[in-house]
Amino acid sequence: MKQFDSNPSDTPLANELADSNQRLQIANATSVKKPKATRIFTVSNQKGGVGKTTTAVNIAAALAIKGLTVLVIDLDPQGNASTALGVEHHQGVAGAYEVLIGDLPMSQAIKQSSTVANLYCLPATIDLAAAEMELFTNFAEADQRYRLRRALSEFLDTVPAEYCPDYVFIDCPPSLGLLTVNAFAAALEVLIPIQCEYYALEGLSQLLGSVDRIKQSINPKLKLSTILLTMFDSRTRLSTQVAEEVRNHFSNETLNAVIPRAVRVSEAPSYQQTVLTYDKNSSGAIAYLEAAIELANKDV
Ligand SMILES: Nc1ncnc2c1ncn2[C@@H]1O[C@H](COP(=O)(O)OP(=O)(O)OP(=O)(O)O)[C@@H](O)[C@H]1O
Ligand SMILES: [Mg+2]
Repeated sequence: MKQFDSNPSDTPLANELADSNQRLQIANATSVKKPKATRIFTVSNQKGGVGKTTTAVNIAAALAIKGLTVLVIDLDPQGNASTALGVEHHQGVAGAYEVLIGDLPMSQAIKQSSTVANLYCLPATIDLAAAEMELFTNFAEADQRYRLRRALSEFLDTVPAEYCPDYVFIDCPPSLGLLTVNAFAAALEVLIPIQCEYYALEGLSQLLGSVDRIKQSINPKLKLSTILLTMFDSRTRLSTQVAEEVRNHFSNETLNAVIPRAVRVSEAPSYQQTVLTYDKNSSGAIAYLEAAIELANKDV
């Protein structure tokens, strides 16, 4: 019965808890830089289920909790970002579809998140599923890729200063279709979440090729500035290997913060919350807070 003799404050679990508490204290005490001009990110990866939406909403929430004004544009007809931000997105609610296809000013469709002050969302309804086809058939080639960029710049030019977002995150669907192209055209920076699993790097070169093509033909200002490792499982060698390989290829872009695979992260959306509000002391919340601070304070 050796374990009853050991000091309970010296167990691996106790050490992990002490470590998380310390990280949380540091993260809470660290302020984030307010950017001089709005930073516009597209959160993209044509692979499905790698953590795009989770990353978009949690980094957005973390920056809003830190006092910045943040807008999430939900460009995925699944509407998962709208759900996680507690924003209504049933059919009939004006959202990204009306802005892209119907010329509705963005200011008339943006809603406030139910959970965090200074956090806003342009919701996606299921109508957005038809938008790819309608962009293609209803608009000239010169126009169809720039619908979001135009709407967003008009919004940023006209919104009163106190509501002007410091950060915009565009949550993309898992494809390289016209919705994603609109996001690439409207953004200044690309944030790629990479899931630490076997096929993580598969398709990455295709994505990088697309970013290059977009830069050359549509948006010369676009920069792949940030890569975030998600769903990291410290118990597997595979996760460590994937993380190392990504860091070897993208040492400047990859954030030091790594998002662990954590149940609280996946539970939060069913409560219409981000993990930052659902369980702010959990490992996932701390990691997203650290990632957001690093993203905001790192020179790009
Ligand atoms: N760190 C994490 N730990 C545990 N589960 C996670 C984590 N990150 C994301 N998940 C879960 O994995 C699933 C996929 O995540 P998410 O929806 O963010 O990916 P996505 O890239 O946006 O997917 P899609 O390509 O369908 O848009 C979700 O069920 C989410 O709750
Ligand atoms: Mg998604």
